[in-house]
Amino acid sequence: GRGVAMVTAVAARLAAHRRLLEETLAPFRLSREQLAAVQTQMREAMAKGLRREASSLRMLPTYVRATPDGSERGDFLALDLGGTNFRVLLVRVAEGGVRIVNQVYAIPECVAQGSGQQLFDHIVDCIMDFQEKQGLRGQSLPLGFTFSFPCKQLGLDQGILLNWTKGFNASGCEGQDVVYLLREAIKRKQAVELNVVAIVNDTVGTMMSCGYEDPRCEMGLIVGTGTNACYMEELQNVAGVAGDSGHMCINMEWGAFGDDGSLGMLSTCFDVRVDQVSINPGKQRFEKMISGMYLGEIVRHILLHLTSLGVLFQGQQTQRLQTRDIFKTKFLSEIESDSLALRQVRAILEDLGLPLTSDDALIVLEVCQAVSRRAAQLCGAGVAAVVEKIRENRGLEELTVSVGVDGTLYKVHPHFASLVAATVRELAPRCMVTFLQSEDGSGKGAALVTAVACRLAQMAHV
Ligand code: GLC
Repeated sequence: GRGVAMVTAVAARLAAHRRLLEETLAPFRLSREQLAAVQTQMREAMAKGLRREASSLRMLPTYVRATPDGSERGDFLALDLGGTNFRVLLVRVAEGGVRIVNQVYAIPECVAQGSGQQLFDHIVDCIMDFQEKQGLRGQSLPLGFTFSFPCKQLGLDQGILLNWTKGFNASGCEGQDVVYLLREAIKRKQAVELNVVAIVNDTVGTMMSCGYEDPRCEMGLIVGTGTNACYMEELQNVAGVAGDSGHMCINMEWGAFGDDGSLGMLSTCFDVRVDQVSINPGKQRFEKMISGMYLGEIVRHILLHLTSLGVLFQGQQTQRLQTRDIFKTKFLSEIESDSLALRQVRAILEDLGLPLTSDDALIVLEVCQAVSRRAAQLCGAGVAAVVEKIRENRGLEELTVSVGVDGTLYKVHPHFASLVAATVRELAPRCMVTFLQSEDGSGKGAALVTAVACRLAQMAHV
């Protein structure tokens, strides 16, 4: 009778929805072959970048030649710019370990995207405030500046900003030496001269801080607001830097991988949309598929699409869902956390002003899973490329290596870390890779780079 007909109609509609959902998410589900192809392309781009040939990987020399040996000592100032906040730190490296005092300062979007003068004036104001509060005024401690953007370094203490990434776009900085910009701001404020010893990428800081405990740590990885990696390369493979023995840490700037179009096959229409409305269209294509600044946006665009198909929210488009950045990446972590029942997934979305049914909640969960899984697998393919390169460099059958990791997405997401590890096991079976989560890699690492440099400088003077 009619009841049966209605049930059949509902079942048919659900089946159709399921099909549409599957179709939408299919391009996010990468096969082993696709991931292996990413690994291969990454290897090729690395080789070209190292030889200074055209490549989306810049493979920037960092002038860090050694990981710490544990004998480093002293008090250091560190600055950390490039994540969500700016921090100033006092780092004491002593016999018993490393102690850190730090203060967090907000960088309002209008400052991050205003003039360079404003940005560096703000930075110097924060440093002065910190020195005041910690009773450090007038002292000129050696300073390590974690500056997490692509820099062309000509030495440890000189870094020319190639281009801004993530949410930064302050004018008049690209092409300039960051240390010079800092010193000019100090002059303007008539503040005490700072003794800048090193400019450090956050990946390098992370590798160094884990390297302090584990000498096998030869790679640094960040999966936070942005994503990037560094590793110890044979100096003889690095074109443009004198010397042919020993090692040098290379900042890969892998966020830009694929900016030459080589990731085109993997990029979905949602990735294209996220890229187009970003402040740097066409740039950082790999980063935009992986890191915290973008995953929530990818999810939001998929949800919009599913709504337009009538699969979600009963086809009702809301103003809320059209709002950029409303879907924070931390929601992915919360929604996917196993301990949260779907009921709570609903609560999170309702808080966002998106009232939904329990079917909707399940769909949102599946979307989040597909997006974060792809991110972790792409990241794993990148790590596999790097550790295999290290293994081949050393002519080893098997390599045991550690990777220092930092970044909120990696640390907080319930499945991200294990998916990265699983992908690496699959794609680089001859490498035994241990992932170490760094504690304040940017702060501690910058101090350690500075400490190593000071130690080597002292050795050179005697
Ligand atoms: C961006 C920056 C890079 C940094 C990464 C993680 O990709 O360009 O330098 O390491 O974000 O913060």
